[in-house]
Amino acid sequence: MEKILDGFKKESIERAVKLLEEGGLVVFPTETVYGLGANVFNPIAVSKIFEVKKRPKFDPLIVHVGDIGYVERLVKEFPPLARKLGERFWPGPLTIVLPKKDEIPEIVTAGLPTVGIRIPSHPVSLELLKRAPFPISAPSANPFGYLSPTSVHQIDPQIMNEIDIILDGGPCKVGVESTIILFREDKFFLLRPGGLPVEEIEEIVGKVETLASPLKPLSPGFLPTHYAPKKPLIIFEDFEEIERKRFKKIGVLFFKKPAFPIEGIDKFEILSAKGDLREAASNLFSALHRLDNSDVEVIFAEAVVEEGLGRAIMDRLKKASAKHKI
Ligand code: TXA
Ligand code: MG
Repeated sequence: MEKILDGFKKESIERAVKLLEEGGLVVFPTETVYGLGANVFNPIAVSKIFEVKKRPKFDPLIVHVGDIGYVERLVKEFPPLARKLGERFWPGPLTIVLPKKDEIPEIVTAGLPTVGIRIPSHPVSLELLKRAPFPISAPSANPFGYLSPTSVHQIDPQIMNEIDIILDGGPCKVGVESTIILFREDKFFLLRPGGLPVEEIEEIVGKVETLASPLKPLSPGFLPTHYAPKKPLIIFEDFEEIERKRFKKIGVLFFKKPAFPIEGIDKFEILSAKGDLREAASNLFSALHRLDNSDVEVIFAEAVVEEGLGRAIMDRLKKASAKHKI
């Protein structure tokens, strides 16, 4: 039976809800990246996510809900400032980490006393979450440590094999994972820069702090070698200065259209011809997937300014570049 279903069709959503109710897993589109979802209240189904992704069990999952009214049922406390952010940015690429209620199984939060919650804005995920009688815990639908898929054809063949329903919702418009913030003692802390610029959050709640040391247990979004292609990746500021001669075939990820003619490069991608950070973020993972699947030996990636969505782009590039030492 065909497993890739048109996510915009009612029958596809109904089949996906039924599979989730039976304890199965479903790949579904969000505006950031594709997710691999299970019923939050079914710990056995949730544990399958870890098996399929080969993900360590110390890595907590984000809980997706379809309505802000549901949040109260999952958290001990929904402080007014956090609620204000939810009201302003949900549905959208923001995850808020709050103290969890005991009903959420330990496996979902990797034993942490907190849970990350988000309402995605992609119409297919919203419809799925509205139809399912439970929230859906879902990490990105990629093998652990690898690039997240932003369209159905980027989903890893092994994950494709093991999952019975993949809802196709087209390419993900935002293209990088959600921004994750933690609310603790009246302050917000940035755990992962992502699809919602921190500056926009700060306009509502004031300064967002960065954690001096990573959370314990470690949040793998923090691991220095996460979100990485298989090929080595080197970040450059000035194209003239890169050491191309060391490699037979090189791939280059340009942020914007270079001012010089592109010559002597085996494969290249331009994230946004006019240098728009939002457009660049939405193309980042698909461009990296294409370079990674080509025959180049190494990927050179142009640095971007670390503001707005540039912060999320640089975070992913730095983590990708930390994987291989060459
Ligand atoms: O855009 C997204 O956030 C996508 C889509 C599918 O919603 N999801 C996603 O999930 O990127 P994942 O599992 O690949 O990344 C979630 C990150 C992990 O690094 C995890 O450690 C962190 O969120 N996280 C989840 N719950 C947490 C918690 N209670 N405390 C600290 N970090 C948490
Ligand atoms: Mg991920």
